[in-house]
Amino acid sequence: MSGPSRYPETYAAWQRDPEGWWMAQAAAIDWVRPPSRALFAGRAPFFEWFADGLVNTCWNAVDRHVAAGRGGQTAIILDSPLTGRVRRLTCADLRDRVARLAGALAARGIGAGDRVVIYMPMVPEAIEAMLACARIGAVHSVVFGGFAAPELATRIDDCTPKAILAASCGLEPGRVVRYKPLLDAAIAAAAHKPDFCVILQREAGTATLTPGRDHDWDAFQEGAPPADCLPVRGSHPAYILYTSGTTGQPKGVVRPTAGHLVALDWSMGHVYGVGPGEVFWAASDVGWVVGHSYICYAPLIHANTTVLYEGKPVGTPDAGAFWRVIAEHRVACLFTAPTAFRAIRRDDPRGEHVRLHDLSAFRSLFLAGERADPDTIRWAEAQLGVPVIDHWWQTETGWAIAANPLGLGLLPVRHGSPAVPMPGYDVQVLDEAGRPLPPGGLGAIAIRLPLPPGTLSTLWKADARYRKGYLDRFPGFYETGDAGCRDADGYLYIMARTDDVINVAGHRLSTGAMEEALAAHPDVAECAVIGVADDLKGQVPLGLVCLSRGSARPHEAIVAECVDLVRERIGPVADFKRAVVVERLPKTRSGKILRATMARIADGLPWTMPATIDDPAILGEIAAALAALGYPRR
Ligand code: COA
Ligand code: AMP
Repeated sequence: MSGPSRYPETYAAWQRDPEGWWMAQAAAIDWVRPPSRALFAGRAPFFEWFADGLVNTCWNAVDRHVAAGRGGQTAIILDSPLTGRVRRLTCADLRDRVARLAGALAARGIGAGDRVVIYMPMVPEAIEAMLACARIGAVHSVVFGGFAAPELATRIDDCTPKAILAASCGLEPGRVVRYKPLLDAAIAAAAHKPDFCVILQREAGTATLTPGRDHDWDAFQEGAPPADCLPVRGSHPAYILYTSGTTGQPKGVVRPTAGHLVALDWSMGHVYGVGPGEVFWAASDVGWVVGHSYICYAPLIHANTTVLYEGKPVGTPDAGAFWRVIAEHRVACLFTAPTAFRAIRRDDPRGEHVRLHDLSAFRSLFLAGERADPDTIRWAEAQLGVPVIDHWWQTETGWAIAANPLGLGLLPVRHGSPAVPMPGYDVQVLDEAGRPLPPGGLGAIAIRLPLPPGTLSTLWKADARYRKGYLDRFPGFYETGDAGCRDADGYLYIMARTDDVINVAGHRLSTGAMEEALAAHPDVAECAVIGVADDLKGQVPLGLVCLSRGSARPHEAIVAECVDLVRERIGPVADFKRAVVVERLPKTRSGKILRATMARIADGLPWTMPATIDDPAILGEIAAALAALGYPRR
């Protein structure tokens, strides 16, 4: 990148006239009826963007590119080392397939505003399902395949879908994950029942269909008339995506249609610096927000080719997998989590695989989802010779809060910082009393309202929870749940969560949900789950359990059952593999478990005796129990 960055004047232009600035960006979207203005603040602190515009997401992601002569351009490349397949779909193919699926859904009574749960692995049909919903104004809610049946059931009960679109199975290295039994168990457990399910049969493991409820994916669509794109209001929900909060009840983030289109399109050119026709690869999963925004929607809206990768960074077959994909498909920009790079580096510290591939088309690597440790960034820079850019965002925001916007010209990179706020975000570091802190001050990171287009409007059917969880603590601000600071030049540093959410391999998980699962064990009287540092995954969960009086069973058996319980209730993705039996848990005098202090002890970090602790001796017992497990490990 040459020349000075255009970031300062771009951010200043947004600050001068936020609404005018966003109206100008909205011109990149095809509207059936353009919005009369950008911001609708009549229900503050609930805000809407472009609310009275009429627009369709699928039109903007697919049909308009065909109409503009890009019908033959590749829209999706499926690269699946797990099945040994590479498959390409053009924009025209995608339009036809999506229109047919949408038509079949409409013929079965799915209409605007109806919810559709999608429980699918990394197959093009997952993207087609998302777009088919968007085409007819249905609201999808994709559930990540690594979640177990009870998590799926919770989401079904919360968003009450009319239909569920699922696959017979997903693939993990060395094992077939049968989705259908999980789906059946979830529907059996849920109070709400969908009208019907549509099941994509995969060769690796076909499923038995439930007569009267389940339809085969292909048969379901036979003879269905293709559906046109239905214009919806800008404020219409595009999707609901559940994310972990402090409790076991996940939060249904609602993403309104028009802001999503405008912000994602802007981000492709200005944050990621890619132009239409280029190949963009987000190595994540469609079940996460990164997959929603940067596998499915943003690249397609921006007329890029998106790569859908069914594999891992290592082991499918080796640590050269990412370089092979980049070389084979001429990927310009890769977006993944730092964990993936830690895994690659562990297997190939000298980067020998990197040099076996032609990476001449590759221009940038973006990392997000967890803190990017400077060591990993330096390694990636040295191996790849391209900018390695940390950026910070969350499911709620849907796109970067802070980044080094490559498309505007790279700012100086500062390791350990995701750089600077993007236009639309007025980011402040606040003290306990909600006062902005000077540079260097460590505090809660908050964003002045309104949040920009593309972010959440509320939680699904839970306005009060949205206010309580995000808006009440600092009036006039959205509380991110992250703590950190900023330097004198405005670069942000994200240090830790302020709640009981942990980040395992870039996956956001609730320790509260794991505690609820553990509490179901008959021998467990009380428990706490903390996140402990892990060289590969950033953090992993660790359980501390107190047994019921009279429990005489071997601790190893109880620990093993606890591990199984979390896997059954939450899913393998929680990676809950370690737990220890302790006599007592440390608490404040008001009964709050001191999780953060235990986590610092486990990580070998300096800690202070909380002034409010009930019985200081318990922390010594915890330190001894952790030491017996080998903590601290570094
Ligand atoms: N369906 C079912 N199970 C799944 C799953 C899915 N979609 N995704 C993961 N799992 C399972 C895994 O098989 C594993 O199970 P196991 O305990 O039986 O081995 C468990 O969940 C943990 O998975 P994962 O976190 O992927 O760990 P891993 O040890 O298999 O792989 C990495 C480690 C670093 C290679 C992997 O975490 C990775 O690729 N991370 C990249 C991060 C990423 O994509 N983040 C998304 C946000 S950007
Ligand atoms: P998710 O909603 O799953 O995307 O997780 C969002 C959370 O992940 C944020 O609130 C942060 O705690 C963490 N996170 C995401 N990106 C970064 C980053 N670049 N640096 C530090 N933490 C990050």
